[in-house]
Parts: sequence; C-alpha cells; structure tokens
Amino acid sequence: MHEDKRRKKALDLGTGNGSYLLELLNLGYQPTGVDKIEWLYPPEVRKAINDGRIEIVIQDAFEFLKTQPDGLYDLVTMRMPDALLYYISVSTENRLPQKSAEFLSHLNRVLSSYGGFVVISHERDSSPDDIIRTLSLAGFQLEKRNYEKINFVGRIYDGYRLTFRRAY
Ligand SMILES: C[S@@+](CC[C@H](N)C(=O)[O-])C[C@H]1O[C@@H](n2cnc3c(N)ncnc32)[C@H](O)[C@@H]1O
Repeated sequence: MHEDKRRKKALDLGTGNGSYLLELLNLGYQPTGVDKIEWLYPPEVRKAINDGRIEIVIQDAFEFLKTQPDGLYDLVTMRMPDALLYYISVSTENRLPQKSAEFLSHLNRVLSSYGGFVVISHERDSSPDDIIRTLSLAGFQLEKRNYEKINFVGRIYDGYRLTFRRAY
C-alpha cells in the first residue's frame, strides 16, 4: 500500500503573531501563515521561521488563496479570524454573497481530497450557526462542533471550534 510520508501541509489564514502556527507544527503539520500585517513575532516563532519550520507570508488572505495550487493543503485554519469573518459568516438567507462564494470556492479548491477546514472563534465575534449555514451553502460538511478555551495573546476566551470537510 502506498504510504504518504510527507509532512501534512496546513495553512493558517489571518495568522497574526504566528503563535497558532507553533501548535500546528506540534501537531505534525508543515504550517504556512498568512496575514496582511507583519506582527512582532515571539522568539519561538522567529526561531521557527529562521529554521524553515514555519513560513509566514504578508499578504491579504483572499489574494493569497487565489495564487495557491489545487489540493495543496491538508488543513486550513482560521483562529479568531476577525475581518475574515466577513467571508464565512455572512449568510442570513439561502444565498451566498458573491465575495463569500468566491472565497469559499478557492478555500475548497486548495484543500486536498481529504482536507479539512477549522474555525476557532468566540460568540462575541460571530455566531457559530451563521458560519455553519454559510459554509454549508458552499457545500462544506460540518464534522465537529466543540466548545474550547482559546488562548489569544495571553488571555483566555470562551469559544468554539468548528471542523468542516471540504465540499465535493
Ligand atoms: C484577532 S487576530 C488573530 C490572530 C491569530 N489567528 C491568532 O489566533 O493568534 C486577527 C488577524 O487577522 C488578520 N486579518 C484580518 N483580515 C485579513 C485579511 N483580509 N487578510 C489577511 N489577514 C487578515 C489581522 O491582521 C489579524 O492579525
């Protein structure tokens, strides 16, 4: 049986100071983070960048997605996705706004055939039900919904984690 020995690739959109990339690295992924702003990176993140274990690209997440090859990523994440929520929690009716449909179609395209998409956020920013409705209109399938404590720049938030399978 063919065994794929490569390290699985993860893409973290709106990565901020890259701290979530270290968690992805520990989970066995080869992580790339994208953010439109260059943050001051903590020393462990800086070291991992210098060692080539993680990569951070400074670019708008949507523009970056458009340039990525089909099926490259095994996992795409967004933690506390802030302004990026605009693309994933906009459906109040049975129709996706065009920008969101376009974003989600690229997101789906860059995922491998067994790829998944994970959103980690808190209720204050967005309702998980809006995200689930929006993603399901784009064909993503909700796999898991968990409550989760989120450690974001040293503060702990009550939040949730939504795990989706790509659309077919
Ligand atoms: C609340 S911070 C979360 C940072 C990180 N995900 C974490 O959990 O530590 C949201 C981040 O999303 C980034 N962001 C917002 N809109 C973006 C866009 N269109 N493209 C890339 N990054 C974006 C912001 O610059 C910011 O760094």
